[in-house]
Amino acid sequence: MNVTLQTQRLLLRPAQMGDAEPIARYLDDFDVAGNLARVPFPYHLSDAKAWLRTRKSTLPVEDTNFSIELPGTGLVGHVGFHRGAQGPIIGYWLGKPFWGRGIMTEAVAASLEWFFNATGAPVIYSGVFHFNLASLAIQTKLGFTETGRSTLLCLARGAEVEHIDTQLTRSVWKARDT
Ligand SMILES: CC(C)(COP(=O)(O)OP(=O)(O)OC[C@H]1O[C@@H](n2cnc3c(N)ncnc32)[C@H](O)[C@@H]1OP(=O)(O)O)[C@@H](O)C(=O)NCCC(=O)NCCS
Repeated sequence: MNVTLQTQRLLLRPAQMGDAEPIARYLDDFDVAGNLARVPFPYHLSDAKAWLRTRKSTLPVEDTNFSIELPGTGLVGHVGFHRGAQGPIIGYWLGKPFWGRGIMTEAVAASLEWFFNATGAPVIYSGVFHFNLASLAIQTKLGFTETGRSTLLCLARGAEVEHIDTQLTRSVWKARDT
């Protein structure tokens, strides 16, 4: 799907081939890749190009991804949805130079609002590796709650890692104070 969202500070837009270089630069960082399940480390330009080739505009709404742009800077991260066994899953990452400014809270909030409006999904799933307190803080702030623990393969670590499973229901999201 070709969707563009504007937030107070950010532009969320479809990924394009020209994103390969900054994606490779920011994902080739263990502090980023090591917190993600499906990103190998080291991460090469060819990995970014291969992934971008899968980002077709004909993908269903449940597979929508956004490149996060900070005007004046360019691409700083990604947020996107994919289909899991239970239902839709949201995932995200931000290049390390941009951490700690509330950027991902802003990007995830806008993406969730769009997703709940664009789909009939009653719930969105996510989670964090057990040591990822910054990401857990984002999810807790936005209304996600823990549903249990599991283990998930972290490609960058080459190991199964304890995972805090979370979910956000449509009703909690729609009832939030903005
Ligand atoms: C996790 C990540 C997305 C955070 O992005 P960000 O833009 O820095 O996050 P924000 O600034 O919007 O919010 C981070 C929150 O975590 C809090 N936080 C940061 N470090 C923390 C820590 N060690 N313990 C507890 N809370 C922490 C911040 O205080 C902030 O909460 P606040 O706004 O209530 O103060 C970014 O660090 C990242 O991409 N990491 C690598 C990839 C990743 O972890 N992706 C998510 C996988 S589940």
